Amino acid sequence: MTTQPFKVTIALFGATGDLSKRKLIPSIFHLFQEGSFDDNFGLIAVGRRDLSDNAFRQMAEDSIRENENLEHLDGLGSFIQKLHYVRLDISDSKSYKALKDQFEAVEKEWDTAGNRLFYLAMPPEYFTIITDNLGRAGITSTSGYKRLIIEKPFGHDYDSAFKLNNEITKTFSENEIYRIDHYLGKEMVQNIEVIRFSNSLFEPLWNNHYISNIQITSSESLGVLDRGEYYDKSGAVRDMFQNHLLQIVSLLGMEPPISLNSEDIRNEKIKVLKSLRKIAEKDVKKYFVRGQYDEGISDGVTVPKYRDEKNVARDSNTPTFIASRLYIDNFRWAGVPFYVRTGKRMKAKETKIVVEFKEVPKNLYYQKEQDTYDDLAKNLLVIRIQPDESVSLHLNVKDYASGQDTKEIKLSYTVAQQDLSQTVDAYENLIYDCLNGDATNFTHQEELMAAWAFVDPVNRVWGQDLPSFPNYQSGSSGPVKSSLLLSRDGFRWWDV
Ligand code: BG6
Repeated sequence: MTTQPFKVTIALFGATGDLSKRKLIPSIFHLFQEGSFDDNFGLIAVGRRDLSDNAFRQMAEDSIRENENLEHLDGLGSFIQKLHYVRLDISDSKSYKALKDQFEAVEKEWDTAGNRLFYLAMPPEYFTIITDNLGRAGITSTSGYKRLIIEKPFGHDYDSAFKLNNEITKTFSENEIYRIDHYLGKEMVQNIEVIRFSNSLFEPLWNNHYISNIQITSSESLGVLDRGEYYDKSGAVRDMFQNHLLQIVSLLGMEPPISLNSEDIRNEKIKVLKSLRKIAEKDVKKYFVRGQYDEGISDGVTVPKYRDEKNVARDSNTPTFIASRLYIDNFRWAGVPFYVRTGKRMKAKETKIVVEFKEVPKNLYYQKEQDTYDDLAKNLLVIRIQPDESVSLHLNVKDYASGQDTKEIKLSYTVAQQDLSQTVDAYENLIYDCLNGDATNFTHQEELMAAWAFVDPVNRVWGQDLPSFPNYQSGSSGPVKSSLLLSRDGFRWWDV
């Protein structure tokens, strides 16, 4: 279903913030360049500051010019003319009148079919104040559609997410809410389904008969940068694990959907998240490891420990690393551990999935030189999501050169430079999908609730038991204990 050029007015809340400048405005501009909008489009930037249209336009132009992923700036002049700025005191319902007037002005000038998209690039504490006030001011009563994109975190735990949903759904129904998880906009994350469901090779093996374990790593070399205030309240569980990583788990674990439509796919993902083994508080230690970075050397530079970062409490117990061993307790996956880890200030920025297959039932290959039946190399399927995008399969073949019988080879496919996504950012894919009314790559309320139900006990236990932090050096692979999670089961993290 593609109905572009999209007729719409977008209200971007938090338009002068970092996310808008780095990702959202360049993404919307690129959609404009690609012809996804024509004249029947307007963007209303909403912010606290007192700015004129022209001052905002200059700011938007600067952020577009600074974006390294845009190949050229054709169309910049016309795009900038589509931007308007409205100053709003978010909690003062009366100030929404200016926004209503601006919507009407855009709609009078252009045929946007009354379609209104509200993008809240704002801290979550403002979500319901904004949706309530939009409703009260009559801005959500429109002749076209109304849609809402909200940024994570969606709540702080199960109860707060439940409450938040109840509040927001007073103004927007579930099918008008697009909860963004930018990992779902990444091409290689979307590729998981294609690799699984378009090859007869994998699906028969994709279960506990043939897979011994699955590993997901999303490491970052950067620290918290200037986001200490937000991050110190969130930590790795809420910032990465509860959303991005559990989404990847659900894509890897789900049953084949009956079709590629949004509802069919999301239903399968929901089932996976609901099948995650509930971890009792007393068992959290057996399944989860936490860490916080110490000072160290990252990308060749000496960096401070987390507790010395700006806007972070000097005695903070917020985890900047989490590793977990989780189980999907259903027929397909019973007994197969999924090891999932993420951390800041680790040795490299990379996101990858390693699927480790079980050994052959009997090893026939005698290693003459070592006078032994050595272990065969493991069959692995490695999906690299970033920075490079590739898929490789590790196999054993005859070794012609040495006295050994076998050697390990890799069949690899790396997405070629010219085939890499032409989008500015994963956000661009998702904004496009939302405008197209396609919610497949957004988080459904039930996915959200199941994910919170899974992580809540961990957060509760970690909020009470004091850790001995810091426990890993910046620039390392995280706390030593994260390897024990696997070695206890006879596995190890694959550094491939
Ligand atoms: C965000 C987190 O959702 O994802 C950040 O809030 C994190 O802390 C970022 O750095 C990682 O995204 P990416 O696309 O760089 O892997």
